Amino acid sequence: MRLNETQLEGYRRDGFLRLPGLFSAAEVAVLRAEIERVADIPCEEIRREAEDGPPKAIMHMHAPESGTASPVLQSMVRLPRTLDVAKQLLGDDELYVHHTKMNLKAAVDGSVWPWHQDYGYWRFDGIQAPDMTTVMVMIDPSTELNGCLYLLPGSQADGRHEPVFDRSTSYGIWTVPREEMRDRLRRHGPPVAITGAPGDAVVFDCNLMHASAHNLSAENRWQAYLCYNTCANQARTVDEPRPEWVRGTDFRPLTTVDDRSLLVGGGEAA
Ligand code: SIN
Ligand code: MN
Repeated sequence: MRLNETQLEGYRRDGFLRLPGLFSAAEVAVLRAEIERVADIPCEEIRREAEDGPPKAIMHMHAPESGTASPVLQSMVRLPRTLDVAKQLLGDDELYVHHTKMNLKAAVDGSVWPWHQDYGYWRFDGIQAPDMTTVMVMIDPSTELNGCLYLLPGSQADGRHEPVFDRSTSYGIWTVPREEMRDRLRRHGPPVAITGAPGDAVVFDCNLMHASAHNLSAENRWQAYLCYNTCANQARTVDEPRPEWVRGTDFRPLTTVDDRSLLVGGGEAA
């Protein structure tokens, strides 16, 4: 898949690009079934807010050695419509996955992600340059009521801000300091609500400010995130690195698989 000039220009200006209908209903059904299959596996790649609560995030499904390993995800990160788009946006043919995550924002329970830049903390993983992009795919309908993603257009152009660790959530997250965030909202706002239907996608820059609110609805809001880095920009050694499931160190360049791979169980990428 090739993006056209207008799409490339939009991404450079806004820091994100919508790709409606990137996955078909049949493919979304395969992804959903795969998430449901791994959700009950006891392993550290499944993150919960409360020990006995539902999964908040399922990490590392694309990696064959993971407790959550999924042939479907191994293929999903290698499709022409995900991998080739990321290659084009990053201007590099050799990419690897920094991490993948399925964010399962549960009905009523699923909670806030405060304003942050992903590269705020990916820099601490030893990644030297913001040459990274994320493809987000909706598994459920995403609405303002169920806690859709909000993006702040153009905020990536200001570059990285030194993050602060926010303990107001049960999980803790590196965020943009409050006063800085208010300033950026005034300068770049208003944020854009990334609502849509299952299969819709958005690709966004690693310095783009983003956040999402509590899920106040009766329906789950599941979304998949595929985070790519260039091999040339691979994470350098750091003291006390985060675990492999969030700071991937398989730096081999990904090869593309057939675009229909998800519908045949993802076997292609194995
Ligand atoms: C994230 O920024 O990592 C997750 C946001 C969301 O899924 O709402
Ligand atoms: Mn994020």
